[in-house]
Amino acid sequence: MSETIWIAIAIDGPAGAGKSTIAKRLAAELHFVYVDTGALYRTVGLAALRRGIDPTDVEGVESLLPSICVELTYIDDTQRVLLDGEDVSELIRTPEVSMAASAVSAMPAVRKFLFHLQREIASSHNVIMDGRDIGTVVLPHAQVKIFLSASAEDRARRRYDEMLAKGMEAVYEDVLEDMKQRDYNDSHRAAAPLKPADDAIMVDTTGNTLEESIAMMKKLVEESLA
Ligand code: DC
Repeated sequence: MSETIWIAIAIDGPAGAGKSTIAKRLAAELHFVYVDTGALYRTVGLAALRRGIDPTDVEGVESLLPSICVELTYIDDTQRVLLDGEDVSELIRTPEVSMAASAVSAMPAVRKFLFHLQREIASSHNVIMDGRDIGTVVLPHAQVKIFLSASAEDRARRRYDEMLAKGMEAVYEDVLEDMKQRDYNDSHRAAAPLKPADDAIMVDTTGNTLEESIAMMKKLVEESLA
């Protein structure tokens, strides 16, 4: 019996580049499973905050890991992330959890803790996985690797609009400052820093509308898989 070859599309890039929105749409069109790996780091960040652990405290966060359970599940084709069985998909979207996620994601023990979960999904599904190290570390053999970026101002503007649309309060300057801080943290950490894989296709979405970016990415993916 021949072994099924699963297809993996890795989309990496900084926060707010449009990775998740674009990846979700592509996954729906291609009938692939969409995996938002940032949600996993956010969940560990939330767990630390809930237990009163400073997310920058390496020993504190490491001691938390054996006692938490992080899982992904899909309801109506939408990813939900569970912390000890509780659906925390919405709770992980606050600025405080974003910062906590950025801090805990710099810790090798956290990356190791979440690695197998990510690999496991890709070993039994066609996936579009987005994150920071998917093409470099998690799925180095992905058939398609895309590194998606845009200017910090463009990315902050999109994140700000998203927050307002969700009814959250936000100040553009604060969102931009957070964005720059997270970019710095994510690309300067020792463990799996944000950087394009050698064989990644570089895509810059600065100035594009969402629809333009989606069309551009769809064409790229189709050409790469042809
Ligand atoms: O994509 P996001 O903003 O939801 O990610 C939250 C944090 O998790 C971000 O600061 C970077 C980190 N992250 C990571 O280190 N590796 C990934 N594969 C995904 C996210």
